[in-house]
Amino acid sequence: MCGIVGYVGPKETLDVLLGGLKRLEYRGYDSAGVSVISELGLETRKKAGKLTNLVNEIAEHPMRPSHIGIGHTRWATHGAPTDGNAHPHLGGPTQKLSLIHNGIIENFAELKAELLAEGTKFASETDSEVAAHLIAREYASVGDLPTAFANVVNRLHGAFTLLVVHVDQPDVVMAARRNAPLVIGLGDGENFLGSDVAAFVEHTKRAISVGQDQIVILRANSVEVRGFDGTPATPEEFTVDWDASAASKGGWPSFMDKEIHDQPQAVGDTLMGRIDADGVVQLSEVESLGVDWVNNIDRLVFVACGTASYAGDVAKYAVEKWSRIPTSVELSHEFRYRDPIITDRTLVVAISQSGETMDTLMATRYAKEAGAKVLAICNTQGATLARESDAVIYTHAGPEVAVASTKALTAQITAGYLLGLLLAQLRNSMPATARQALGQELLKMPARVQQVIDGLAQPRQLGKDFADAKSVLFLGRNVGFPIAMEGALKLKELAYIHAEGFAAGELKHGPIALIDEGQPVIVIVPSPREADTLHPKVISNIQEIRARGAKVIAVAEEGDAIVGDYAEHVIFTPQCQSIFSPILSVIPLQAFAMELATAKGLDVDQPRNLAKSVTVE
Ligand code: F6R
Repeated sequence: MCGIVGYVGPKETLDVLLGGLKRLEYRGYDSAGVSVISELGLETRKKAGKLTNLVNEIAEHPMRPSHIGIGHTRWATHGAPTDGNAHPHLGGPTQKLSLIHNGIIENFAELKAELLAEGTKFASETDSEVAAHLIAREYASVGDLPTAFANVVNRLHGAFTLLVVHVDQPDVVMAARRNAPLVIGLGDGENFLGSDVAAFVEHTKRAISVGQDQIVILRANSVEVRGFDGTPATPEEFTVDWDASAASKGGWPSFMDKEIHDQPQAVGDTLMGRIDADGVVQLSEVESLGVDWVNNIDRLVFVACGTASYAGDVAKYAVEKWSRIPTSVELSHEFRYRDPIITDRTLVVAISQSGETMDTLMATRYAKEAGAKVLAICNTQGATLARESDAVIYTHAGPEVAVASTKALTAQITAGYLLGLLLAQLRNSMPATARQALGQELLKMPARVQQVIDGLAQPRQLGKDFADAKSVLFLGRNVGFPIAMEGALKLKELAYIHAEGFAAGELKHGPIALIDEGQPVIVIVPSPREADTLHPKVISNIQEIRARGAKVIAVAEEGDAIVGDYAEHVIFTPQCQSIFSPILSVIPLQAFAMELATAKGLDVDQPRNLAKSVTVE
């Protein structure tokens, strides 16, 4: 959702702003704009559509050199994605103030009524413009920008990151943050603001995450952070471990393609330094919760949305099996509205790539208020979720730019395995030899992920072959079930076709009625090697649907000599312990969906209607 960049310093501001907005494109947006203060005063350009429209607009109406400015990509909430509703918005009758906003100002209607009653003219339908006029009016009355800004943000309800520049104070960018992301980039004689570190990582790796209800006064040589009540804050600096080049396509046709291929490294980096050669897990991040406390956990709840929730679904199998802690998975947006039983012995594990998903943030705040401890599994340093949690396991997948999640998922599942093994270790819930053998197995997974990547030509070709499919069904069992759900989600969001994932055992209870002549069905087939194998049951399911006309693509383990007799196509993945198979079997599904969507001429990096980081509830 909305991307925000601010800059003050010696560089040409427009370059910094447009470069930052380009790097934030992945968040999803439908219009873009910039304001700079130049020798002409405030100059603003904004345009509906992609960033190239804004760049063309600036080429037609060039802007003067500048050393301070703000830039925005908007994901429409209040008001259609038009030029007029695009940000920045100008405030006051003299239009000397420019503002950008991410979030929703919930009390905008009453504030707008107040301004309308005074005769204020509005140029847009947005809630954001209200804040621009209020700050301009307040500045006219108090004569000091930080004071005027603070007075107004204290009147706003809802979620907002606001950035403001004013012609009368051309050396300062003001910013405020409540329930929406904001990070500061610290440079040498220059400073930056961004929705996330991607906005400025090509210029600096030194960053500060702005806290809830805090205001930033950003100048080229100073950064001041205060609470909304004026109390000085001393935020902690961190070093960004993402390389700027990691957030570029590096020769791949799409970010999604690149990120699918990043997975051996994403899984490997997430494991790195966290399991030793004996299979013993060393996750000091979680141990900070306290060994005594960990022993007292009586329930573990994963909260997450979308793909991240499927990582939770997989992790649940591992955590519960190994640690014997009763474990459930809840969609964040459902969780707090059903009065769940949460106590001071509950561990809530919030999984989020961005760490800014509002539904997940609200779920964790609710859990904390109810006395639970919150552990985050998060991919983004400095994210709100990481800051608000009691402990964080970072997934080291690197920046994920394509809207549809790929490498973040396999890294999240990997972090879930690490957590499960750690809990088993701390609670002594399984024999050490068996546990350590699992740890050693887990260390072998990056190489197996690489083998799957090396064999992607087949699922890619199948994606092309099925480009005309109107609907695709996915079946899985046990840890294959969440992967079936994920396969369906990838196809829906990328190729805009109907897709559903089912538990294979559920088929006979209803979904089998969907099977008709020619219906493509992708089946995640469990390993035939393990004692409590579900393999024959899933083979029976395949027979049932084939008998009704389904065309079956199976994802099965190498050495499965049976499945080939029952499926039209078999995609083989390397042998491994069944519990670890999801990080292999999901990858052909990602490639299948990407290729099918590409064959339909669709943009796989930025599917319609979607935002990368969903910062509203
Ligand atoms: C789907 C996808 C989404 C996200 C979900 C949670 O491909 O990417 O379903 O997984 O919006 O996002 P995070 O992990 O940032 O909380």
